[in-house]
Amino acid sequence: MAVPLVVLTDPRDARARRELAVAAGTRILAAAHAAGIDITATCGGRGRCTSCRVKFVEGTVPPPTIMDEVQLGADLVREGYRLSCQCAVTERVAVQLAPPLEERSFQILGAGPGVRASAPALTIDAGIAKELLKVALPRDEHHQTSDLESLAAAVGVAPESVAPAVLATLPQALRDDPAGVTVTTFAPGGRAAGAGRQVVAVERGDTTAMKFGLAIDVGTTSVVTTLIELESGEQLASVSSLNPQSVFGGDLMSRIAFAQFNPGNLRKLHTRIVGLLNQHVAEVCRESGVLPKWIYKVVVVGNTCMHHLLLGIDPSHVGLAPYAPVMRHPVTLPARDVPLKIAPEARVCLLPLVAGFVGADAVAVALATRLADRDALRIAVDIGTNGEVILGSRARLMACSAPAGPALEGAQIRHGMRGAVGAIDRVEVDDDIRVHTIGEAPPLGICGSGLIDLLAGLLQAGAIDWTGLIAMDARAALPPRLAARLVMRGEERQIVVVRAGEAGAAGEIVLTQDDVRQVQLAKGAIASGIAMVQRIAGVPDDRVDELLLAGGFGNYVSIASAVRIGLIPALPAGRIRYVGNAASLGAQLCLLSEAERARAAALALRIEHVSLAAHPDFEEVFVDAMNFPRR
Ligand code: FES
Repeated sequence: MAVPLVVLTDPRDARARRELAVAAGTRILAAAHAAGIDITATCGGRGRCTSCRVKFVEGTVPPPTIMDEVQLGADLVREGYRLSCQCAVTERVAVQLAPPLEERSFQILGAGPGVRASAPALTIDAGIAKELLKVALPRDEHHQTSDLESLAAAVGVAPESVAPAVLATLPQALRDDPAGVTVTTFAPGGRAAGAGRQVVAVERGDTTAMKFGLAIDVGTTSVVTTLIELESGEQLASVSSLNPQSVFGGDLMSRIAFAQFNPGNLRKLHTRIVGLLNQHVAEVCRESGVLPKWIYKVVVVGNTCMHHLLLGIDPSHVGLAPYAPVMRHPVTLPARDVPLKIAPEARVCLLPLVAGFVGADAVAVALATRLADRDALRIAVDIGTNGEVILGSRARLMACSAPAGPALEGAQIRHGMRGAVGAIDRVEVDDDIRVHTIGEAPPLGICGSGLIDLLAGLLQAGAIDWTGLIAMDARAALPPRLAARLVMRGEERQIVVVRAGEAGAAGEIVLTQDDVRQVQLAKGAIASGIAMVQRIAGVPDDRVDELLLAGGFGNYVSIASAVRIGLIPALPAGRIRYVGNAASLGAQLCLLSEAERARAAALALRIEHVSLAAHPDFEEVFVDAMNFPRR
């Protein structure tokens, strides 16, 4: 039996509504997604976050489930909020979506200073060449040639080397401008190698100065696209956004579960990411004044799942033991096959993968950090929703994945938020709790770097013990103002980080016992990844020459706080440093240098994938890593 479900799709505009007819018993989230209405489902519909909450505005509010009570808390439940993934439609109801996340102000780490600053010695050879040619066309009717053959002869390649999409406009291009035509070629391996040159564009007149490329880092949570001039390496524009697939699951496993064996859902994930990349193309082109048709090369990095979804490949088996990727080798395909709205025959190069959960982003990090170039033993940690740990030197490279989930980015935390304006990003704990917010705005919630600072400060003060328990019994020993912030609400232990009205906050911001557990799970994943790779490689802390923190999250976190909570090992401060968005830098290196792209391919073959879950020590190391260091 079909039941009407009214969805108020814009919390600020009561007229924006959709009326759906859904089978009785269908969950609201599933009904909305089937109708193309975006409700963010960070935990993939498992009742473990609050992102899918809706407010009942008409009809009977269903009794709350345990998940509603745990995740939303008594106040929101009383106001009529429910988790849309947990509640089914049985009669006519109207629900309002929660306010959307303010994506514009998200503090996603961009592309960084670029190749010219980070690798000034790089020899630029993107493999793209442009030359202005005068092509001799047939003059009389007794000829036995063609436009294509004339062009190929002028360029010095076989006719088969001219990409088919170039032919559509070839006759006009060859005849329209007396100055001649500009022919763009791509030589895999670099211009010096010369072999296998392909003609990827023919334009009328002289456009030889216009030669651009894109470096794209597709992360589980954020996507960064950088436009670069291919001769000078100059970074012209960079744009970053949330990955729009997050609506269907915040971490990799929930995204794979959404796609699993369902071609419709797979198509949705594919079109979301391609749509976003085309928006990025439009944006960087608008900002720089570059025409999309002058973009001839693209390098994409991403984890295995993101790579597969971009190509429209079913990632189902990546999520099932033994976690086999569908393919691993480097791929080059024309932009029209993605499809990206740039030169149709532009070469889109995807870097190779290592394993199901160690992807091209890890290869790019290893390349950018030059891990394999030195004898020194170094560890690169790419902290993100799906983190990676790579340990290596000239002799050997080992990598594992560290699935932290999105908690360190503020998801699945009661008052967590991403690094947007109003997010608490730094915290000091002394005789009280003092917060700093992004944009110095009134506090709205707390983001990952703030969470880590907060936990480090509370641990140091003794307000949380080494097992992560909020230490209600220790209140008498705490300074009175700090002690007053530790409260019991029903059965729940909480720390009131900001009271309503404090620093202009509209409402209270608390850290719950469950929030602490979520951060412990996330930091346990990263810390156990580091510890296990060290253990398997036989490299104790005192033999680690340097730890490199990379990724969108790593650049905002305080190193001292990260060490205090045991997210990273307690190496001397001088041996830990930030390296920024190393995955994006690796993509930029491969964009500007075919030699670097070849190095990346060689590195991928050298990286040994370490599967942690199968290791007999893993459970013990993980449980240990969940606890905080005792001091
Ligand atoms: S609780 Fe519904 S998607 Fe997370």
